[in-house]
Amino acid sequence: MKSSAIAHSNIALVKYWGRSRTHDPSLNIPSTDSVGMTKLGESDDIRLLTHTTIEFSDVYEQDSATLDGVFLTGRAMERVLKVVNPLRTIAGISHRFKMMSRNDFPTQAGLASSASGFAALTIATVDGLGISLSKREISAFARLGSGSAARSIHGGLVYWYKGDSHETSFARQICGPTEFDMSAVIAIIHKGRKEVTSDVGHKSAHTSPFDRARVNISRKQAKDIEKAILTDDFSVVGRISEESSRYMHVVMMTSDPPLFYWHPNTLRLIKLIQKLRPSLECYASVDAGPNVHCLCRPEDAYELRKILDETDYVNMTIVAGLAGGSHKTGEHLF
Ligand code: ADP
Ligand code: DP6
Repeated sequence: MKSSAIAHSNIALVKYWGRSRTHDPSLNIPSTDSVGMTKLGESDDIRLLTHTTIEFSDVYEQDSATLDGVFLTGRAMERVLKVVNPLRTIAGISHRFKMMSRNDFPTQAGLASSASGFAALTIATVDGLGISLSKREISAFARLGSGSAARSIHGGLVYWYKGDSHETSFARQICGPTEFDMSAVIAIIHKGRKEVTSDVGHKSAHTSPFDRARVNISRKQAKDIEKAILTDDFSVVGRISEESSRYMHVVMMTSDPPLFYWHPNTLRLIKLIQKLRPSLECYASVDAGPNVHCLCRPEDAYELRKILDETDYVNMTIVAGLAGGSHKTGEHLF
């Protein structure tokens, strides 16, 4: 039987960068708690989502997976198996699978395709194998494919506990998509694939002399941002988001080998966002890539987008609101 799921990507407001060094690195247990916003693109062709279909059957002689029509091999396929294999074991099913997935936005460009990709894969797989798991368990299994996927299981604003084991490292919802008013105007500076994936980047975080300081402060940032979300304090949410982004990029740039995900125009845009305040309240957050998420209140999103579109260095903008959580769909890709 075929099973399909849809999941949205998310932008981290308090960032996950670096894995716990006291646990098996393949478990993707992060060094800090983190908080994300699950995103819904407000244009018809870019909803910032992944659609995945999987089928387990004895007609398949081997496992196969395609992403946007291209077969996954090597590390990309290994990551798919990291999610599917333990679930196959729980289900007691040894059938091989065929999986097809589509991202409606650029992959490996710092827009978190791995988050929506592995969230959709986990939901579809659990359904396809006929097993019953709680959302907490589904979030933990999604994490095995990609850390940030643990957050994309839920809609709205989401808190991921770093935890201390496979079972205790999972995400839960802080509030639903209609309970906090925030948009992200995503400024695409460069949509090509980044040279160093987050998967590889996480491994060198601990080599930065600033990593320990970031880890320590992230705990407080995650708690404080949750409080600000629940008290509708957008200014604090924005300020902490911008700070967490800056701290993460300092760690990246000072790691061995150093990682420079920013392009020169990323910095130009961050400075523009700072200059627009306070008349237009907005804050910049950058994941592992050159593109900038400009956070603002929804009523300011289209004015902000206009300003960004008028620069000569932003190639394209996408306005995103808060999305709902991952879910099954009856629409199959094959
Ligand atoms: P991004 O910023 O897009 O998350 P990453 O380097 O963190 O970039 O992750 C990209 C990788 O995630 C891809 O190379 C691929 O291995 C995996 N991935 C992305 N989308 C999917 C998907 N829909 N299904 C399975 N794996 C995916
Ligand atoms: C900068 O979750 O993509 O987006 O676990 O290796 O898949 P893997 O990494 P991933 O890393 C996310 C890094 C980040 C910050 C964040 O999303 O918290």
